[in-house]
Amino acid sequence: MTTYLLEGREVDIWNEELSYYHSRSIAEYIRENLLRLEEKGIDPFSEIVGKEKEKELVKNALLSGSSILFRGRKGYGKTTFAKAIAKLLPEKILAIKGCKINDDPVNPVCFSCRKKLESGVVELEWVKPRFVRICGDPMMTTRQLIGGISLQKIREGYDLDSPEVFTPGRILKANRGIAYVDELGAIPSALQTLLHELLEEKQVTTPEGDIIPMRIDLIFLASTNPANYRGVSDVKEPLLDRMEEIEIGPPNSVEEEIEIAMRNSNEWLRESVVMPEWHAKTLSRVVMLARSGEVRLPDRIEVEPSCRATIKVFDHVMASALRRKHRAVMISDYGVNGEKYDFSNVLLGLRGRMRLEFQAEKFEEVVSVLVNDALEITCSEYFSKMQKEMSRLAVELGKRGEINVYTDFTDFYEILPGCECEKVSALEFMLESLARCAEVAERVGDGIYAYSPG
Ligand SMILES: Nc1ncnc2c1ncn2[C@@H]1O[C@H](COP(=O)(O)OP(=O)(O)O)[C@@H](O)[C@H]1O
Ligand SMILES: [Mg+2]
Repeated sequence: MTTYLLEGREVDIWNEELSYYHSRSIAEYIRENLLRLEEKGIDPFSEIVGKEKEKELVKNALLSGSSILFRGRKGYGKTTFAKAIAKLLPEKILAIKGCKINDDPVNPVCFSCRKKLESGVVELEWVKPRFVRICGDPMMTTRQLIGGISLQKIREGYDLDSPEVFTPGRILKANRGIAYVDELGAIPSALQTLLHELLEEKQVTTPEGDIIPMRIDLIFLASTNPANYRGVSDVKEPLLDRMEEIEIGPPNSVEEEIEIAMRNSNEWLRESVVMPEWHAKTLSRVVMLARSGEVRLPDRIEVEPSCRATIKVFDHVMASALRRKHRAVMISDYGVNGEKYDFSNVLLGLRGRMRLEFQAEKFEEVVSVLVNDALEITCSEYFSKMQKEMSRLAVELGKRGEINVYTDFTDFYEILPGCECEKVSALEFMLESLARCAEVAERVGDGIYAYSPG
């Protein structure tokens, strides 16, 4: 009989209060939490926008305790998905006190805990199950991933098989938790083979041919880029064979793209200035057009901008609005010089997140085409949605010859869409639509439009 101590007191670990927190596999906890949320009609992955089908696939894979490989390009939510899954881990579990891998009190894996169990008295502690994120790296060593022998301890006089001598690697640290390997394909193939052996056979074979049993229990998640993308080597067959592959692609609609950007853009900026719908749509479309391959550009886009680009474009444009004391984003916030058309803030968000195939010097030109096309699309959307208001505005512009949106917006209050703080921005966007779709206006300065028929 083993005596268990928790917080200095002897406890019966099989009593009702404690038995839930040990001797169960991590997949069981996850399954239970998942089903509990489903029953209540709560989306367990609410931080993920869209991806309804992918969510269903993830749920099914988790229910059977399978490992998941997210495949897709950078910036479309693979890591976010893994973190969302980690929220299904239990709040706390019981582990053997001081164990580096949160060993189970009844079925410990590590040498030192097995010794403690033999001794008859085991101290316990509450721990939070770990979410261990491992960056796939071609230079990764067995020692880093699986574990290694400490020569220092041996020099200090410890026996080779004494518990102190072994230092667990990253993957063992995820025992009774989740391991997430970012860029699994980048890990050296010999290590991938070891990883497979560890997950599948619950053992590792040393270079000398010794087999070491390691009955660790974890949910294994990983991500990888599409094969051949930027020369990243791919995941090896045996590992692929034991993982469920789920494709994570770009958002499906402009609404999803906006939602992702709004949720992840800088919170302080978002509270300080308004991003009106017309600008949110336009800026999201800039990035979506860059991905679509449908726009005629001066150079081909080799690396497409991901959601990270959209998020950053939103940030920079809102930062400009804040500094210029605009209550809502204006077209001049797309750039820095405040003049007619300058898109340098949009460029700032795209630079480094989008790459041209041949002529890097054409970057600015490419951005300009994308922004103009995006403006064109959103303007024509508003132009056809608000025909009556647009013709009233056109007539008024004809009478006045020129409208300055910053000073004249109150005259047009009732025909402008959006809330009160968006009226200036709304008037500007309507005039921009007249310029692009009806050709009766011309933007002559920051927020200033002149009547120009024909
Ligand atoms: N579908 C999505 N739902 C919510 N956020 C998303 C989505 N796609 C991308 N993001 C956001 O984009 C950024 C990059 O996502 P991330 O998960 O790090 O991508 P990956 O791991 O695929 O490179 C994060 O801020 C993330 O919140
Ligand atoms: Mg990632």
